[in-house]
Amino acid sequence: MTRKFTDNALVIATHNAGKVGEIAALLGPYVASFESAGALGLAEPEETGETFQDNAKIKALAAVLASGKPALADDSGLCVHALGGEPGVYSARWAGPDKDFSLAMRRIETLLGPSPDRSASFVCALALAWPDGHVEVFEGRVSGEMVFPPRGERGFGYDPVFVPEGYDISFAEMDPAEKHRISHRAAAFSMLVESCFT
Ligand code: IMP
Repeated sequence: MTRKFTDNALVIATHNAGKVGEIAALLGPYVASFESAGALGLAEPEETGETFQDNAKIKALAAVLASGKPALADDSGLCVHALGGEPGVYSARWAGPDKDFSLAMRRIETLLGPSPDRSASFVCALALAWPDGHVEVFEGRVSGEMVFPPRGERGFGYDPVFVPEGYDISFAEMDPAEKHRISHRAAAFSMLVESCFT
């Protein structure tokens, strides 16, 4: 049985203010108040997991331990099929300390070379953890194809080199509202809300 969230407050286990705002907006109808790991000054755990789900759990449980309150964490990235799923959980790390995603996108292009398999997917894992150690995990995915050179100026990260299935424009060329409707994050949040918040 999936556990329902019935508490008043939720800690959003991230130090990224943009993510806090986005998650608080999505869960606003179901949760009375939000805090964030960043605002609470909680240490950021090392993301040592081999899967998105493992890393989301690590982050959620670290925030629960430090705050004593239920916490929600996410972990996401791009998996390129012909690269054995890379960059995967290393998606942020491939951009280096300067968060240079042009570099990360070029690295994918070089590694892919002439490979005819351009398939890829964005994945988002969400972990909701409680102080007794119980965790619920959800994973959303959007499939598509890698395209080079990068296209479009909107979005972030790897958006310019990813064309979702059923479209002929990249995530970075798409109206942000449309991306939010079909994204890996939207899929994971819809599972989370349906299972734990309604
Ligand atoms: P994290 O989930 O904050 O650990 O970071 C995941 C990394 O995956 C980001 O730095 C981006 O590089 C990449 N990523 C995750 N979701 C998206 C997306 O919707 N568009 C583009 N890149 C993404």
